[in-house]
This record gives sequence, C-alpha cells and structure tokens, in this order.
Amino acid sequence: MIGIARAHTNIALIKYWGKRDKKLFLPMNSSLSLTLDAFYTDTKVTFDQTLTKDTFFLNNKEETTEKITPFLDLFREKMSSPRFAKVESLNFVPTAAGLASSASAFAALAGAINQASGLHLDTQTLSTFARRGSGSATRSLYGGFVEWNKGTDSHNSMAIPIDDASWDIAMIIIVVNQAKKTISSRDGMALTVQTSPFYQAWVESAEKDLQNIKQAIANKDFITLGEITEFNGMKMHGTMLGSNPPFCYFEPETIIAQQAIRQLRAEGIPAYMTMDAGPNVKVLCQTSTIPTILSHLETLFSKDKLIISKVGKAMHYLTQDDWEQSLQSFEDTL
Ligand code: ADP
Ligand code: DP6
Repeated sequence: MIGIARAHTNIALIKYWGKRDKKLFLPMNSSLSLTLDAFYTDTKVTFDQTLTKDTFFLNNKEETTEKITPFLDLFREKMSSPRFAKVESLNFVPTAAGLASSASAFAALAGAINQASGLHLDTQTLSTFARRGSGSATRSLYGGFVEWNKGTDSHNSMAIPIDDASWDIAMIIIVVNQAKKTISSRDGMALTVQTSPFYQAWVESAEKDLQNIKQAIANKDFITLGEITEFNGMKMHGTMLGSNPPFCYFEPETIIAQQAIRQLRAEGIPAYMTMDAGPNVKVLCQTSTIPTILSHLETLFSKDKLIISKVGKAMHYLTQDDWEQSLQSFEDTL
C-alpha cells in the first residue's frame, strides 16, 4: 500500500482570496492559474498496519501531522481497511514563502494517497479532495491553464483544465525573500473577508476578470491575458490595504521589481506581474522575450534570485526509482 506522486505549484492569474465555507474550503470566487514546471513537491505515502499513528517527514525532518491526519481521514473514510500512514515529502519549492508550496503539497499528497489506498479516484474528484488540504491545491492536479470552478457544493468545487498553455508562455519568478511569511494566506484572506470594505467589489470584479481572461486564453491573446492578470492581482492586494488592521505583503524590493516591469513595458516588452501572499514577484512573459527581460532584471537583482519557469504538467505518479532519484537531488541542493 504505497503511493508516490509529483505535483507542480501553480500561480493564480485570477486569485482565490476568501472562503465562503472554511471547513469545506469553498471559495468566494472562481479562480484561474498557470501550473509551473520549476517548482514541485514529491510525496510518498505508505499505509502500514503495524503503525500506531500517522507520521510526517517534510524534507527529511519529522513534522506535526496536524494538517496531514485530517487530510488522510478524508480518504480513510472511503477505505475498506483504513490504516495509519507514513508520509514523506520533498519540497522542490521554498515552504510557506508565497511560492505556493501548499498547492503542490496537497495535490501531491492527494495523488500519493489515491495510489496507496487503491481508491482509484478520477482527477476531478481528486481535485475536490486536494482542495480540503489547501484551496490552491485544487488547481495543481492539472497542467497549463486551470480554472477552479467555485461550484455550489463540496462535490463540484473542482479544477477544470482550460488550455495546455503550449503557446510561448513562461514565468520569471523574482525571489525577493524566501523566508516564511508572517501572515499565512489562510489568516490573511479570513481577515480580509471579515473586515475589508473593498471585499464585495473584489468578488464581483474577479468573476468578470475570469470571464475575460478565459476569452483571452481562447484567443491566445497574450497582451490581454497579461493585462487582466496584473489588474486582478493588484486588486487582491488592494483588499488587504483596506482590511482592519491593514496588512501588506510587499517589501521594498517588491516595489523595485514592479517598477522594472513597468519600465520594460514602456520599452515595448510585454511582461506582466502578479504577487501572492508574500513579497515575491511573478512575471508572466513570452519565452521569446526572456533574454531581454533577464538582462534588465539582472541590473537590479542577482542571478540566483531570478528563476525561469516553463509551463508545468499535471500531477503524475512516480516509481520507487524516481523517488530515490528525488531524495538524491534533494540532498544535492542542500
Ligand atoms: P505557501 O505560500 O508556501 O503555499 P502557505 O502558508 O499557504 O504557504 O502553506 C504552507 C504550509 O503548507 C506549510 O506550513 C505546511 O503546513 C504545508 N505544506 C508545505 N509543504 C508541504 C508538504 N510537502 N506536505 C504537506 N504539507 C505541506
Ligand atoms: C494568494 O490556497 O494557500 O496564493 O486554502 O487557506 O490553504 P488555503 O489558502 P491558499 O491561498 C492561496 C492564495 C493566493 C491566491 C491563489 O493561489 O489563488
């Protein structure tokens, strides 16, 4: 009863920011993301009848099973002979730094549990399970552009693949700070829903942005795609400035990066930015313009802070040999 899976992180172009049901992770608005090749999580799950409790090892260190056990329980409720599990996970993405580790984490965990349990859930159903670990994980079950349809209940609030994004799309991540953030996305969005007078306007305009961005994707219209992405991300951060107490994830270098992107556009390079619950800036661009964008950004940021990502694939299963290779490459990165 072993399962091993890899899932990539995703960056929302239309953001999920706020829950209408905290227990079921039902979002206030539908969202849409791009799955990234550069960042991923590999997770191995072993159900073992000799275990007396669940155990969780993240990056080879034992951690609390506080979030893992309730997540395993969702699947155990469906298993004919439920058992405790050993969960081992490797993050090839900084943890809790606004680079979406929770998205790849719970999508990989859902996949590994699915395989280890023999439940054979289909990918859309699996996306509804991943959602219960972290909302953004819903979208990491698929590659390319993915919509998370907010749905009407727990069974249909799920991910839908929209387009494989194989048309000259890339992202450059400007790593401003990869330390653990002080306000988690979970707490930040809850405070915003409760206190920001801008919140209702956000929900309404995010739904419009979603319709418009889907049209831009259908038309393969990069400029409109980028403009909507930047507009939507900035509005999400605006809701936080209107929260009580107000909060902000931007750091001085976040603003420097934003100015650089505007400068590039003024010079005719189509590049658009989005930021999540952290100070890092993600630049949506075309593969063909990466060298020009990099040569500009390298005047402001050191090369190791600039990560280029192609479009990522859907969650997929790994062999034991793949797992051993992952353990080795994890050691090599230390
Ligand atoms: P991020 O911006 O990295 O997604 P979050 O605060 O939303 O930050 O989520 C980080 C949390 O996700 C961690 O504190 C941990 O609880 C969980 N997490 C991260 N990586 C893993 C993993 N590989 N397996 C299980 N849970 C993980
Ligand atoms: C800003 O999915 O991390 O990245 O559901 O509480 O685990 P929980 O939150 P999480 O929030 C992601 C917020 C975001 C936008 C997005 O990814 O859509």
